[in-house]
Amino acid sequence: MGVDKVGDTQNRSLLVLYASQTGTACEVAERIGRDARRRYFSVKVTSMDDYDVTQLIHQNLVIMVCATTGQGDEPDNMKQFWRFLLRRNLPTTSLCSLKFALLGLGDSSYQKFNFVAKKLYKRLMQLGAVPLIHLGQADDQHELGPDAVIDPWLKNMWEVILQIRPLPQGKEIINENVLSPSPKYAVALSEGYRHSFENSSSEAKRNETTPSKNQPFLAPLTSNTRVTSEDHFQDVRLIKFSIKDSKIKYYPGDVVMIQPCNADENVSEFLSYMNLDGSKAAILQQNDPDIPLPQLPANPTIRNLVKYFFDINSIPRRYFFELLSYFSTDELEQEKLQEFASPEGQEDRYSYCNRPRRTILEVLQDFPNSAPHVPFEYLFDLIPPIQARAFSIASSLKMYPDEIHILMAVVKYKTKLQKPRQGLCSTWLASLNPSKESTKIPLWTRKGTITFPKTPTSIILIGPGTGAAPFRSVIQDRVIDGIKGKTVFFFGCRNQKKDFFCADEWHDFQNKGFVTIFTAFSRDQESKVYVQHKMLANGQLAFKNIYEDRAYIYVAGNSKRMPTDVTDTLVAIVKKYGNKSESEAEEYIRNLQQSKRLQMDTWS
Ligand code: 2AM
Repeated sequence: MGVDKVGDTQNRSLLVLYASQTGTACEVAERIGRDARRRYFSVKVTSMDDYDVTQLIHQNLVIMVCATTGQGDEPDNMKQFWRFLLRRNLPTTSLCSLKFALLGLGDSSYQKFNFVAKKLYKRLMQLGAVPLIHLGQADDQHELGPDAVIDPWLKNMWEVILQIRPLPQGKEIINENVLSPSPKYAVALSEGYRHSFENSSSEAKRNETTPSKNQPFLAPLTSNTRVTSEDHFQDVRLIKFSIKDSKIKYYPGDVVMIQPCNADENVSEFLSYMNLDGSKAAILQQNDPDIPLPQLPANPTIRNLVKYFFDINSIPRRYFFELLSYFSTDELEQEKLQEFASPEGQEDRYSYCNRPRRTILEVLQDFPNSAPHVPFEYLFDLIPPIQARAFSIASSLKMYPDEIHILMAVVKYKTKLQKPRQGLCSTWLASLNPSKESTKIPLWTRKGTITFPKTPTSIILIGPGTGAAPFRSVIQDRVIDGIKGKTVFFFGCRNQKKDFFCADEWHDFQNKGFVTIFTAFSRDQESKVYVQHKMLANGQLAFKNIYEDRAYIYVAGNSKRMPTDVTDTLVAIVKKYGNKSESEAEEYIRNLQQSKRLQMDTWS
């Protein structure tokens, strides 16, 4: 390891950069920031895109936390950073005075596990930066959750960092229970809410710009229909939003982001557990110039903040227990909370909240002598903000110029807890009544992971279940464009009579020659029939499309085994009908993937 100034106790500035899509990497980065302060570092924690990347050459110590999203994609807040680092004209010595530690956050149920972190690690080294420690590869699928990798990796990292930047003379690492945590924001509470200039100006701006995270469009819900039979195990909805006058433009493959909110009964429960007066209004100010203020609801009364901002239905992370223990006045509760917050208590914490999917709200209920003592301003540290959910758009703007449709499975499942677990966004949307004038959904759109050819090229679509969503969009587009005989669609579901949604529409398009559909009903006979079985049975046609028509292939749906099974089947088809060896066929499919003629959009 190249050491600059060995044992440098003076230089105690530290940069922590994160790339986060769902907020986890940001939380880990903030945790590193707190740990750094306990080691007397002056630390700046920021997203990669909020950092001036040209300054990286002047840094000599950076810790990075980097998530991988979708099919090995960079999170939105590292796109510019990454583009800059990829510049060809950067000399290979650009970062030679930089030492870094990089922690990847990924999910091994996806094919490209920690792909972005791996790419970044390699690129930093190409540019001369020196890794202080091996690449950390946290995995959501680990039976003890990502902390099982994060904790030992961080421990190791701090040991290495303290070797090159030892603690100041006579100082010890400040214990977690001793440091008085300072809240992210300063919060003043007032009796009522006064309409501020800032809010009126943002209303004015709304009409001028394309809706985005900071300026969502409030879309009326126009239809909410169950498209699976009542006796089917899963409630799938076709939901339609009006985007009239919104300036939203989207294309097949794009995604709509929906910002959900908490149910009123949960909000009331929370206010009572925390002993809060919902009618008071909160005014936030920055405590730290490096932590920007969050986007709050237009009328930030405490009740509205709890309804629209705090994710009280998420599963608490370790810091939640640490912070709650800090304010607890009850010895037993405090002891339990501290145990959950300790590395030794990880297994217990996991069994208590991660495995049964216990929510923040339920945990607060379990600690009645601690919850009411948390000062309001600390809620921004205690509870993460509600994240927008991404849905593949299931409609075509050409067919429905003022609408966005989604196909959404309502998430509901049992754990060992008595109450079934429910997905926040899908439960909320499914509960909404389109005839109510006031039902407006904050949304915006963005590019998805798949893009369809602009030309009338042949396409093969493979989409079991709600994986059909982006394909409904592209098929509708092609119907309007009059593209016939170029679209093959493999659809799979459990039963023809129960969850073959949109069947009439597909059949109509098929009868008119716009699409050829093959269906796999997995549970209508003794043995399972899946989309890949239908692909294999129609392998000659599929191969002809791929080989002669240079078809583009799209796979969408559940990320578990389906994408791998389908890829293996494509290899088998190429091998059989293209007279290739196994390795040649694999190479062929890999090339298709590289040239974007095979694209996947999968979710868990
Ligand atoms: P199953 O539930 O009967 O196993 C939509 O979810 C459809 O995808 C269902 O019919 C489901 O079948 C099927 N499915 C499950 N695993 C699959 C896999 N590995 N490949 C393809 N389809 C799969």
